[in-house]
Amino acid sequence: MINLEVKNLNIEYSTRNGTVYAVKDASFKVKTKETLGIVGESGCGKSTTGHAILRLLPPNAKIKGNVIYNNKNILELSNKQMRQIRGKDISIIFQDPMTSLDPIMRINEHFYELIKAHNPKAKEEEMKQIAEDALESVGVSKKRLDNYPFEFSGGMRQRVMIALGIALKPSVLIADEPTTSLDVVVQEQIMSVLKNLKQTKDMSIILITHDLGVVAEVADSVVVMYAGEVVEYADVQNLYANPLHPYTQLLLKSVPNIKIGDMELRYIPGSLPDLKNIPRGCRFKDRCPYKKDICDKEEPPIFNVDNREVRCWLYGG
Ligand SMILES: Nc1ncnc2c1ncn2[C@@H]1O[C@H](COP(=O)(O)OP(=O)(O)OP(=O)(O)O)[C@@H](O)[C@H]1O
Ligand SMILES: [Mg+2]
Repeated sequence: MINLEVKNLNIEYSTRNGTVYAVKDASFKVKTKETLGIVGESGCGKSTTGHAILRLLPPNAKIKGNVIYNNKNILELSNKQMRQIRGKDISIIFQDPMTSLDPIMRINEHFYELIKAHNPKAKEEEMKQIAEDALESVGVSKKRLDNYPFEFSGGMRQRVMIALGIALKPSVLIADEPTTSLDVVVQEQIMSVLKNLKQTKDMSIILITHDLGVVAEVADSVVVMYAGEVVEYADVQNLYANPLHPYTQLLLKSVPNIKIGDMELRYIPGSLPDLKNIPRGCRFKDRCPYKKDICDKEEPPIFNVDNREVRCWLYGG
């Protein structure tokens, strides 16, 4: 069953120096209980896509397209309707956990604020129970509810963020780089928390990361983004066994060399095109080992190959 569908999503940012075409025509579906990974190197539009789903983009962003949830395009809902969805039906863990926890609020107050936003009459006892359950499900002792954020290590804070994200049992959790700022040991712990959630909660996860190792471990299907576009979309086994897009192939080749950190994706020679001034034709052509004439002239559409999608002239046209 499809839980959430992103259809033809386009996002632009207006800036003083011109328009940044951050996301172009992105489409993907998230099934119930599925973990969908969104991967790609820095600046390719992953966070923009994730934030757009909850309409959390800054005012200089313009969104077009559809985010279908419960048979409605949530991009067309009122702000009030949107607030009811946020945190309850769909929640997000932001890229930087330190900025999303309020340093002068105890952990329990973070939970209470979230719960009250959706149920103003909630009783203290009830709220405490929700907070305790959420914390324990990510391996943090409920005794720590009275602590302030600074009393936690980075990994623990990230668990608290995940606990807040799942406290109201959302049907979709968007996790934006949940392991990036953490050391390797803690990364592994957070990964196992996510894997565990996937098994025990009735929840879809959209996992945004530039770490293909993380995706291989927890995702069921994968969206590969390049310069604002979805260039490949496949289930995880097929993608790793037989990557179709030249960009995916290079990404996967670069992984075994350097396992950790954000280094691996920089090992593909060249850089992303300027999103304010996107060249004609394929966006990846200047870094592509298989470039043909048509790649200079025309932007490739999405081709369907064996139940997967790939945006590359090698597969059609
Ligand atoms: N508020 C903004 N105003 C203008 N441009 C922005 C804004 N936020 C992001 N961008 C630009 O949009 C593009 C996509 O950014 P985004 O943050 O979505 O990338 P990302 O894939 O999440 O990267 P990272 O892996 O570094 O988190 C980039 O070119 C970025 O510079
Ligand atoms: Mg990001």
